[in-house]
Amino acid sequence: MVKVGIAGIGFMGWIHWLAYQKIPGVTVAAICETDEKRLQGDWTDIQGNFGPPGEQVDLSGIATYRDLEEMVQDDSIDLVDICLPPSVHLLAIEAAARAGKQVFCEKPLALNLEDCDRANEVCQQAGVSLLVGHVLPFFPEYEWARSEIASGKHGQLLGGHFKRVISDPTWLKDFYDPDKVGGPLIDLHIHDAHLIRLLFGMPKTVSSIGRTRGSVVSYCDSFFRFEDPQVCVSSMSGVIDQQGRPFTHGFEIHLERATLHFEFAGFADTGESMPLKLLTAEGDVIRPTLENSDPLQGFISEIGEVIESIESGQPSQILAGELARDAIEICQAESKSVMTGEVISL
Ligand SMILES: NC(=O)c1ccc[n+]([C@@H]2O[C@H](COP(=O)([O-])OP(=O)(O)OC[C@H]3O[C@@H](n4cnc5c(N)ncnc54)[C@H](O)[C@@H]3O)[C@@H](O)[C@H]2O)c1
Repeated sequence: MVKVGIAGIGFMGWIHWLAYQKIPGVTVAAICETDEKRLQGDWTDIQGNFGPPGEQVDLSGIATYRDLEEMVQDDSIDLVDICLPPSVHLLAIEAAARAGKQVFCEKPLALNLEDCDRANEVCQQAGVSLLVGHVLPFFPEYEWARSEIASGKHGQLLGGHFKRVISDPTWLKDFYDPDKVGGPLIDLHIHDAHLIRLLFGMPKTVSSIGRTRGSVVSYCDSFFRFEDPQVCVSSMSGVIDQQGRPFTHGFEIHLERATLHFEFAGFADTGESMPLKLLTAEGDVIRPTLENSDPLQGFISEIGEVIESIESGQPSQILAGELARDAIEICQAESKSVMTGEVISL
């Protein structure tokens, strides 16, 4: 049984908590939170843009800590799950690794490349795993796409377009602060940057145009070049200034003998989906249906991968700290390209 201490009971701490209840072989043994109400189990004020609203939670049998340094010393914990704001990820990773705990940290690994490198280095030196919560590859539609690509039956991967656009989240006060959240690239597009890295490897160059707010990019269109010049990858990411579009994401992925397509768009009045499609070499349009309809399935699968990796001692090919670091490097290159108008080499 893997025993977990969750650091930070906000939106993500709550979602992870719910996911842990559905995964065999793991139990939440401790939580750490600076908010007194939440530390007592009153999670009713937690809100996010998906999943159920927070509840009153029975914390009997679960150790509660105000200070992360104390929680990481708890001998009954194997894994520290960091659901804290990005600006404190590195400090928390260092504390957990120093105490010899396995580390699972929400995305983004950190706000800049130097901190990402430090996080990887510290965990490597301590001999503990660093897994980073890049959940997108585990969302059922994206997991399906990965498995279609990996099957090899559609031939080589030729490219793809990845989309992630939301209304300006005006209620998140630090969203555009480069030292706290990092803006739409680091908070939002990082999901697609990680997926692009996972599917295609590290791009050779990045070229982006975009709009900025203060010192961060608020919206950008990017083109990624790879070793093979035939591989065409692009993305559109960021915020629009109108409310009414809480969330949109999707992909069109090109293979030699198939095209994979999906888009989900949440609008203020309703959510609309362009359901998964597979266009075959014969000209057929296949509409795969995915069985699991649990809205938290992506997180259940992602955390399942964390637990499997901890138990087996085998590194995760998807949640590895090095990939999370590369995703930040890609976002930084896109940002630099927007700011300078230049093509950036990686
Ligand atoms: N994977 C996803 O889809 C997804 C979605 C949202 C957020 N996230 C990520 O999850 C992380 C957390 O985001 P969130 O939306 O849950 O934030 P949040 O603000 O809702 O929650 C953070 C919690 O941490 C607590 N906290 C802050 N500093 C602390 C400290 N030093 N010690 C103990 N507790 C402390 C706060 O009181 C709060 O309850 C971020 O890295 C964010 O990017 C990921």
